[in-house]
Amino acid sequence: MWGRRRHDRLVTTLDRLSLPYVRVLRHLHLPSPRRQASDDSLRVVVTDRRIEAVDENVVSFRLEPAGGGTVPPWYPGAHLDLLLPSGRLRQYSICGDPADRSHYRIAVRLIPDGGGGSREIHESLHVGTELTIRTPRNAFPLTLGGHNTRPQTVRFVAGGIGITPILPMIAAADRVGVDWSLLYCGRSRESLAFTDHLAAFGDRVRLRLDDEHDGPPTADDLLGTLPDDSSVYCCGPAPMIETLRTALGPRRTVGLHYERFAPPPIVDGTAFEIELATDGTVLTVAADRTALDAIRDVRRDATYSCRQGFCGSCRVTLLDGTPDHRGGALSERERADGQFLPCVSRADGGRLVVDL
Ligand code: FES
Repeated sequence: MWGRRRHDRLVTTLDRLSLPYVRVLRHLHLPSPRRQASDDSLRVVVTDRRIEAVDENVVSFRLEPAGGGTVPPWYPGAHLDLLLPSGRLRQYSICGDPADRSHYRIAVRLIPDGGGGSREIHESLHVGTELTIRTPRNAFPLTLGGHNTRPQTVRFVAGGIGITPILPMIAAADRVGVDWSLLYCGRSRESLAFTDHLAAFGDRVRLRLDDEHDGPPTADDLLGTLPDDSSVYCCGPAPMIETLRTALGPRRTVGLHYERFAPPPIVDGTAFEIELATDGTVLTVAADRTALDAIRDVRRDATYSCRQGFCGSCRVTLLDGTPDHRGGALSERERADGQFLPCVSRADGGRLVVDL
């Protein structure tokens, strides 16, 4: 809607028409539709649990509303927030069919040295387990062009468990007749999930396995031959995304859309200090670390989830100092009210005092 190119006229017009309506709601202090949606939570029950990768590190879960009925709608690229029994909040892409409103399906790879969320899910979610989720949000939307755009070529690139948001995307692209292809990269064939499902798409899907090649995929491997006005959708590890960003930087006619499942690298960081107001502890945040890392050195219970600035679960209140806000989870008003995201936001030197 707001990018440089390929605006859809219908959506742009609807956006312009809706703004006055939203302003009136704000003026009347009524909840806007967007705020109502973001507050929604849903109790669900696990009704199926399947091993999806032969090496058993990836398990998928079918989640149905605990009280019956249908699940709220979602679109390819959407994710769910899962509130785990321990209180952890974790995000997982929905990998099922948006047209089937009877359930959501997510897939979770066990990360042995991760923050504990994937282990908790693997060990404690069984058929019959109930848990609370937040209804879907989408930070990685698929845009397949509008009535006023030229035919499009879409290249999907997935690394490992990054296949989960890509699965509903390729189904959507296939359904509307877009010229698409998928390169699915992984350590070995046994480490890849959903390969049986992908086999139905024939030679549009190609696997690229590290144990059959020398080293990680190059930009040429990832992209193949892409005509101008193509789009690339990638979900995978940071080196894969950086390879694509570097290769496509000079090609302004190709749109790159990506979702990370690890924190982004710190760009232009300088060292600064964080003071914890409750006991006066002063922590130094090195130029190549996040404030959240420094806080978790002394407060292991500090909450976090995405570590990319979009979920808001790490937010703290700032009592003093001049922040360099980063990430999109906070509104301008919340920033003005002193909210701060230590997973991505920083300070340009000096000291920040936080209410911890
Ligand atoms: S952990 Fe998600 S915004 Fe900080």
